[in-house]
Amino acid sequence: MADLENRKILLGVTGGIAAYKGIELVRRLREVGARVRVVMTSGARRFVTAQSFQAVSGEAVRDDLWDAEAEAAMGHIELARWADQVLVAPATADFIARLAAGMANDLLSTLCLATDAPVWVAPSMNRVMWANPATQANVRQLETRDVTFIGPASGDQACGEVGLGRMSEPAEIVAALVDGGSGVVQSLAGRHVLITAGPTRERIDPVRYISNHSSGKMGYAIARAAVAAGARVTLVSGPVALATPRGVDRVNVESAAQMHRAVHDAVGDADVFIATAAVADHRPVAPAAHKIKKTGDSVTLTLEQTPDILASVTALPASPFAVGFAAETRDVELYAEQKLKKKNLDMIVANRVGEDDGQMVGFGTDENAVTVIWSDGRQVLPRATKLSLAHELIAIIAERMAATGSARSNRSA
Ligand code: CTP
Repeated sequence: MADLENRKILLGVTGGIAAYKGIELVRRLREVGARVRVVMTSGARRFVTAQSFQAVSGEAVRDDLWDAEAEAAMGHIELARWADQVLVAPATADFIARLAAGMANDLLSTLCLATDAPVWVAPSMNRVMWANPATQANVRQLETRDVTFIGPASGDQACGEVGLGRMSEPAEIVAALVDGGSGVVQSLAGRHVLITAGPTRERIDPVRYISNHSSGKMGYAIARAAVAAGARVTLVSGPVALATPRGVDRVNVESAAQMHRAVHDAVGDADVFIATAAVADHRPVAPAAHKIKKTGDSVTLTLEQTPDILASVTALPASPFAVGFAAETRDVELYAEQKLKKKNLDMIVANRVGEDDGQMVGFGTDENAVTVIWSDGRQVLPRATKLSLAHELIAIIAERMAATGSARSNRSA
């Protein structure tokens, strides 16, 4: 059986010089068994004719939302439902911007908005346009909405410049679809994944609290990746400014004590527990009932330790596969290994946080670089977006769970 046998791919072609590569792309997709219907934007028609795409795809090509005859044959909503996969290649900076803004001002953007199918995008543009903060912000925004980007590649550009922006080669795009085009591998299908994310707030008085810089982005990315891998996901979240990922059951909490309670309410049938939250280690022993007033004297806060949520989960008689995070400012892997043992974890994800040449790393950023460590192995995941690291981490977790034959690995239980 061919790799994409009977997979229904809606190929969107937008107006870039790489549109001509769309012809080869269709040919290669058909070679691996896919059915391809092409939708062109008006810009794409300036580079390649609809007849060319019709000839290679063997299907009618659509390019107009207002074409009454084509709509009568297969309406745009029907077309959006038909697709198992939407692939936009090449995608111009303008199309990516329209997609990010949720526009529906031509047939292709309308289809992208109306489909439930995964949307994959292969950008193609001048290197400066790709690097522009507007384009980068659009890409990040789309990644948080589970749009997958293939490329762009680096090299000679049609405009005579050299750099990052050219469309990935058709063969690479097809290989990416074959690897992950069915959505992501359903490696956690039927599993319940419980995740903590974000900071906690420990009350000093009704208007003040102790907290930290955690943005929750890594935990939310992991929640998204776990859903994509087929898991049922419960996300116990401290206060963050992030939208709940699609398909995730989110429980909002503020303090470490509340997070502890919410985790134990949900952990009963959890197969995996991933503790990404930056739980405050200490809290005021006696929060003031009223706002603490200035008196001219110094104020002493007495702090006590908060419950260690992760350690309390691994101490359960039937602990799920437990993954901790070690955010450290130095000796990252050493401290992480110590935590792996001390908290009796199956796996720990080590990353460095704080200032790096004057730049914040880890906290608040959209990228991260981590080392995943387990009892008899480790894997370095180099700097990448938090979402792509999250997909890799979920794949490693599923692999380790399969390798050890159960939810729990060979921890010293
Ligand atoms: N964690 C937790 N509950 C706490 C503290 C931490 O669940 N009260 C979890 C974090 O979510 C993370 C891991 O434990 O997955 C590591 O947390 P960290 O605070 O770095 O480790 P500690 O054991 O507190 O070590 P230290 O404070 O010495 O760095």
